[in-house]
Amino acid sequence: MIIAIDGPAAAGKGTLARRVAEALGYAYLDTGSLYRATAKKVLDQEIDPDDEQGCTVVALNLTPADLTVAGLRSEEVGQAASKVSAIPGVRSALLRFQRDFAANPPDGKTGAVLDGRDIGTVVCPDADIKFFVTASTEVRAERRFKELREAGEDVIYARVLEEMRERDERDTNRAVAPLKPAEDATVIDTSGLDADQVFEQARDIVAAKQA
Ligand code: DC
Repeated sequence: MIIAIDGPAAAGKGTLARRVAEALGYAYLDTGSLYRATAKKVLDQEIDPDDEQGCTVVALNLTPADLTVAGLRSEEVGQAASKVSAIPGVRSALLRFQRDFAANPPDGKTGAVLDGRDIGTVVCPDADIKFFVTASTEVRAERRFKELREAGEDVIYARVLEEMRERDERDTNRAVAPLKPAEDATVIDTSGLDADQVFEQARDIVAAKQA
């Protein structure tokens, strides 16, 4: 069983994916962490994020340890991840790992939940269940702002909102695997919902599909 959860930044897809995976006993892969880990190494090695070949080499040589380094969730790394993820070579370097994870979930699990931007459209077009989790830009910027403040980052809301718009624009308009709902995805708008309500909606849809 493969469950694909896509959506823009800070829409709540990570929280939902983690809860769905836990409830069903499935493996969970945050595919954004692959792009973030690539971006972090690109920044650390002072490679230009526009250097397609340099970034692709980094993605090809990513190791599991790179996915757990500190600092992956920062805004700087998120923006850089959005840039490197537009490079076709980077995307194809990371594709196989994601598909392998979905087809052979670790630890003998019988299913996998993957969240990202292109899981239902490109990585796992045959996923059993697809969600597209979204929310208004202002709500998402507000959530990200609070998250960053709580993590001790010195940020202002207007800047977070601007960066959210930039990132949406880049993720949605790139030539390869742009952010968009799969035709057969169920869209959940989380703008007026809390995490429990989002989970309950998804849980009911999963239960209906499994019945
Ligand atoms: O979900 P996130 O904020 O951790 O993702 C960081 C960036 O990685 C996002 O702006 C675009 C890219 N990404 C992608 O292109 N495809 C995915 N499946 C996941 C993330």
